[in-house]
Amino acid sequence: MIQFSREDGLLQMRLQRPDKMNAMTGDMYLAMAEQLLQAQSDESVRAILLCSEGDHFCAGNDMGDFARIAKSAGDDPDPAEFPPVHLLHALVDNQVPMLAAVRGNAVGIGLTLLLHCDLVVCARDARLQTPFVDLGLVPEAGSSRLMPQRFGRAVASELLLLGAPISGQRAYEIGLCNRVVDAAEVDEAALGMARLLAQKPPQALRASRALLQEDAGELHQLIDRELKVFFRHLKSPESARSMQTFFQRKP
Ligand code: COA
Repeated sequence: MIQFSREDGLLQMRLQRPDKMNAMTGDMYLAMAEQLLQAQSDESVRAILLCSEGDHFCAGNDMGDFARIAKSAGDDPDPAEFPPVHLLHALVDNQVPMLAAVRGNAVGIGLTLLLHCDLVVCARDARLQTPFVDLGLVPEAGSSRLMPQRFGRAVASELLLLGAPISGQRAYEIGLCNRVVDAAEVDEAALGMARLLAQKPPQALRASRALLQEDAGELHQLIDRELKVFFRHLKSPESARSMQTFFQRKP
């Protein structure tokens, strides 16, 4: 459900579950994490482009998987048992410049993944949202720190507490993405940027990225802390009730 391809130093990761708006399953997290790990020791990979099949980037974690985890996990769940944690730590350790091409919905981890990318191209009319609280959940992927740091506390509260969707245009205005274009031009624009990066002196590029990166040790700790709270809340009656809204939204 993720297609990996390589050409001229560019590794493309294309989410391929369009019928479910590319919602992330356990296998998808693990496959992405494995590719990211491999890319670290492969100097021929000069840039990574995260993109998607269909009209949407990613509608977040698979809701069915959430429901299954909520039922099966113990009272004090260990985040290390769950696939997303592997991808999130691999993203923090990633040294290869990473780009994303976003159109349609980017929800939950579909948005917080972008905080770990270096360059993001967004459709002007994309719909980005982190409805964690509405689902009885809490922020993940380091977003509880990265969002206030990068966008300011007011905007972070709007995204993480209010959970209201924002457009690609607004994502550009707050600094969440680098460029906004029409939806039909997103892949092309992101590919152009990715190819530019892939042609640059690779060692200087990786070293420069490392200098830009937040403290990895702190981020790892934060991600673990967030996920511990996240999985505890996933098991709560409050979350179960909120999730029902999604499962029962269609007759
Ligand atoms: N997990 C599993 N399937 C999902 C999904 C998710 N996170 N998000 C969307 N889908 C599926 C829907 O079940 C539907 O499939 P179906 O037709 O087989 O039932 C398909 O993708 C299209 O979604 P739909 O809800 O019909 O589209 P919409 O345009 O009315 O709404 C969203 C789009 C993104 C607002 C809505 O799908 C949604 O809220 N998804 C959940 C997002 C979310 O909360 N993710 C987790 C964040 S922590």
